[in-house]
Amino acid sequence: MPCELQDGCFVVDSDLDPNVEASSSCHLTIMWIIRCAGAVRVWTPAKVNLFLEVLSRRPDGFHDLATLMVTVGLYDTLEIREDSTGEVRLTCDVPTLSTGEDNLIVKAVRLMQRRYAVTAGVEIRLRKRIPMAAGLAGGSSDAAATLAGLDRLWRLGLGNDELGRLGAELGSDVTFFFHGPAAWCTGRGEVVEPLPMRKPLDLVLACPEVGLSTASVFRALTLPSTPIPGDEVRQALEGGEIDRLGKALHNRLEEPATKLAPEVARSRERIARLDPAGVLMSGSGSTVFALARDAADALRLSRSLTSRHDDGVRDRVFVVRSCF
Ligand code: C5P
Repeated sequence: MPCELQDGCFVVDSDLDPNVEASSSCHLTIMWIIRCAGAVRVWTPAKVNLFLEVLSRRPDGFHDLATLMVTVGLYDTLEIREDSTGEVRLTCDVPTLSTGEDNLIVKAVRLMQRRYAVTAGVEIRLRKRIPMAAGLAGGSSDAAATLAGLDRLWRLGLGNDELGRLGAELGSDVTFFFHGPAAWCTGRGEVVEPLPMRKPLDLVLACPEVGLSTASVFRALTLPSTPIPGDEVRQALEGGEIDRLGKALHNRLEEPATKLAPEVARSRERIARLDPAGVLMSGSGSTVFALARDAADALRLSRSLTSRHDDGVRDRVFVVRSCF
């Protein structure tokens, strides 16, 4: 089966049944794309923020940020099929997710059709595994996967820089998915500087039942008078120093998110009691993650988190490794 590594995506030309699932070695790359006759299947990861500082409020209503993002091995799957009728149809296994024109996947298709004068339609089936409204950029990742998948399906040959520019038109986090697995992101989040990582990170994600809207968390934010610099967290990541990294974790949005959802603080306290290398909320929440010292430590943490439901906490727990 011919396969090639293209711009960080593992692309496989396949005449296999498209129902074939990804192997467990997904961690090697950021996105996996399998191309079959008339269809592509894309596995696209979640991200966590190891550091997020808000620098200023901008005239366009957005905020200037400095954030360190890492993709992790929790994947949504998109199957994108040519549709001869010219229609764009999206279906999803989560019935509460809107599949209309407001969905970022449909917006990504419309953007590609417009920009490259494509009249063909597509049928997209989305399988969601990344929790929604959870600070894991599932929607942005799906949008990035749509751009990458259509680039292959329609054989446009755009490459990651161009796809990243298109992504920035859809959302602040979309560009990152073309430049991971680890990156320092500034501007709205769309100015992406890839970072080297000494070794993969083992993490445990705890996702509270309540989700948070990014816009409302930013609205509840008090801007810092003195923003925290990110040198320490960058050096710790680059050097693979897990305990140092754990101490340098920071997210300015944690306080406003906690005001809106006390579950975030509760999840944080439960994790902190288990003595991980570090604990932090991701993005605008509501996911809180533990930075484990290694894979065995991640298993220990996840077992403790799932076995003790006496306090009424019903977080969904995922053991993940950062893509590498
Ligand atoms: O870009 P995205 O659609 O993900 O942003 C969602 C909302 O989050 C924006 O409408 C804005 O209210 C807020 N946001 C912000 N500053 C950023 C990114 C997002 O204020 N850098």
